[in-house]
Amino acid sequence: MLQRRHQFQVLVTALVFAANCAWPNDLSQPLTDSPGDPDRGLATMRDPAKASCLICHSITALPDRDQGRLGPPLDGVGTAYTADQLRQRIVDARQSSPKTIMPPYFSTEGLYRVGAKWSGTTIYQAQEVEDVVAFLLTLTD
Ligand code: HEC
Repeated sequence: MLQRRHQFQVLVTALVFAANCAWPNDLSQPLTDSPGDPDRGLATMRDPAKASCLICHSITALPDRDQGRLGPPLDGVGTAYTADQLRQRIVDARQSSPKTIMPPYFSTEGLYRVGAKWSGTTIYQAQEVEDVVAFLLTLTD
């Protein structure tokens, strides 16, 4: 009995931990204690191994060739949206736009055909979400 209860507690702790990692409920707070770094954020956004934002979006200020047109240009999102709104969209854009093609960068919920190697992992780490938010906030034109 004691062992059962212990197992149950471990399970609950693991679930609470996973829920916090995979889909943080309070996106009005930064996900990390250390502030986001815009330069690192841009590098993360360009990373082809992490579903580069530039596959789908364009940013006029960047020299990158072949920027995407599937999503709206990101020019001016730093003025149009608050940090919380940008964070929410990166963590899981489906929360505001359920049928979006934009990948959920910090959620493991409701995904299809995830390779075994990536199962249970998020595209970004918490710090990377904050870095990308910091970069987007510099796009004020
Ligand atoms: C597979 C394509 C795709 C990728 C990759 C993608 N997005 Fe998007 N994104 C979209 C689409 C399409 C929209 C338009 C609204 C919707 O579908 O929700 C959008 C909307 C947005 C918006 C709101 C823009 C507005 O003007 O309303 C922001 C901000 C954004 N994306 C940021 C990002 C960032 C940052 C990344 C990389 C971390 C990224 N997106 C990766 C497709 C994508």
